[in-house]
Amino acid sequence: MCGIVGIVGHSPVAPLILDALKRLEYRGYDSAGVATIEHGQLSRRRAEGKLVNLERRLKEEPLDGMIGIGHTRWATHGVPNETNAHPHFSDGVAIVHNGIIENFAELRDELTADGYVFTSQTDTEVVAHLVARELARGATPVEAAHNTLKRLEGAFALAIMFKGDEDMIVGARNGPPLAVGHGESEMFLGSDAIALAPFTNSITYLEDGDWAVVRRNSIAIYDMDGNKVHRKRQQSVGTSFLVDKGNHRHFMEKEIHEQPEVISHTLAHYLDFAGGKAKAFEMPFDFASIDRLSIAACGTAYLAGLISKYWFERYARLPVDIDIASEFRYREMPLSKSSGAMFVSQSGETADTLASLRYCRSGGLKIGSIVNVRESTIARESDAIFPTLAGPEIGVASTKAFTCQLSVLASLAVRAARERGAISADDERTLVRQLSEAPRYASQVLKLDQQIEKVARELAQVRHVLYLGRDTSYPLAMEGALKLKEISYIHAEGYAAGELKHGPIALIDESMPVIVIAPHDRVFEKTVSNMQEVAARGGRIILVTDQKGAKHATVKTMETIVLPDVPELIAPIVYALPIQMLAYFTAVFMGTDVDQPRNLAKSVTVE
Ligand code: AGP
Repeated sequence: MCGIVGIVGHSPVAPLILDALKRLEYRGYDSAGVATIEHGQLSRRRAEGKLVNLERRLKEEPLDGMIGIGHTRWATHGVPNETNAHPHFSDGVAIVHNGIIENFAELRDELTADGYVFTSQTDTEVVAHLVARELARGATPVEAAHNTLKRLEGAFALAIMFKGDEDMIVGARNGPPLAVGHGESEMFLGSDAIALAPFTNSITYLEDGDWAVVRRNSIAIYDMDGNKVHRKRQQSVGTSFLVDKGNHRHFMEKEIHEQPEVISHTLAHYLDFAGGKAKAFEMPFDFASIDRLSIAACGTAYLAGLISKYWFERYARLPVDIDIASEFRYREMPLSKSSGAMFVSQSGETADTLASLRYCRSGGLKIGSIVNVRESTIARESDAIFPTLAGPEIGVASTKAFTCQLSVLASLAVRAARERGAISADDERTLVRQLSEAPRYASQVLKLDQQIEKVARELAQVRHVLYLGRDTSYPLAMEGALKLKEISYIHAEGYAAGELKHGPIALIDESMPVIVIAPHDRVFEKTVSNMQEVAARGGRIILVTDQKGAKHATVKTMETIVLPDVPELIAPIVYALPIQMLAYFTAVFMGTDVDQPRNLAKSVTVE
């Protein structure tokens, strides 16, 4: 996923664009660039690597101009270097792009045959040459942009600037998001509201298939057939959070520590703590009448969904089908209108999750989505949204969004249990009270940081780690492995503890630590047996348990991290913190870029 910015302003725009790109850097950081029109000419500065390199270039060679576009890249086509960095130029046309042009090879051949010379390996460059060719054929800039958009297949958000017009940027959206910011005699384009926060919170979100002619004092939005369309102008909520690290070393550390507060905000949104029941928030379907619930998501969001399967089935007696969205979208699962469909996504822009949502919608299912960005595409295409109140999550590794997703899903499971008559009012009061205690326990767990940091120092010495868990700790084992590998680059796998004997036990030796997530719950004894199997083969165990578990774990461990005894329902929420902290400290010891790990982006808006 990449970040796009455009400004038609009344003061030099290059520093403003750079500031906006800094707020978008979490979306991609392979390379970056800015182009402006200065003294009637297109000029640009581009740099490989982090945004700080572009900042240095701009200090060395400043850019004038009161109109410009900028881009921070997560490479899809072409290695991350300066040549492939956006903006791309062609005969007086400058362009930045987020997404994938699926028919770029065919277009590239056509343009090459017409004498256009490609200087990059990107798919984006074909768009610049297409627009230039339309201009050469006599089209006006607006016609050239529109004719070009009609040729493109695939997902794209674009900003296009023309040398001959210093009062216009054309923006277009087909998939990845693009927002227009309304200023005073200046207008902005950005991939999300956070990017535009320093300039305005008056935002118009383009819909799929929209393109917009943006001038200092006007905006005209059209559909792909060229018909004018109206899109509402709204106050963005995303800008009310100050997005900075505070006194933390990384956004991830800050976001781990924000969890007690944001879990509390999220639970309070869905639960009536005083009344001991789930609130009557709007539902897209009736839990009492659906016979199945289908959930699809990616990465950490998928693991939150997998944990909720245990909750919906155990407490609400509601069967759940949970899928990785990239598999779900092509599996052609038969859909039944007596099912409900839910999607979990922090960004609300993940391409596979969005495609899965659209598949269910095409089958007539009612859609509910758990998102952290209320104005996101997934939110806008849902019949009901269940916001996580985590605030902007900037660290690429998802932490507070995950525990807020779990908080929403647990609240929904309690609501479903009551509406399906699976629990009594007393049961509901008990479950709601247990959930209300989650923030307090999370605060207590944060105080284990020194012990966890000590364990992390050990982990930083190894190359492979196995995480084990049962029941709701099994998805947590996978989440712990995902966290560790995505920020420390140490290979890790999360496995159902019961599966150990079916293969993975062959891996066990003293060189590979085994992290066992095991609160003293209904399957604890079974997990102890698995730990004994590991210990008997020289495996080194790091046990994450509670006081009861520590007392009954009759096995020698390398380290035991003891959490408070917590009710079974909230264990996944509370046990998420130590596995996040373990990954975080290990990555710090490894010296990796914790907030912007290599090869990753915060939201994958392309397939
Ligand atoms: C989580 O740490 C990862 N960064 C990644 O797996 C993420 O959860 C996944 O890409 C889904 O993103 P979404 O929640 O924005 O849809």
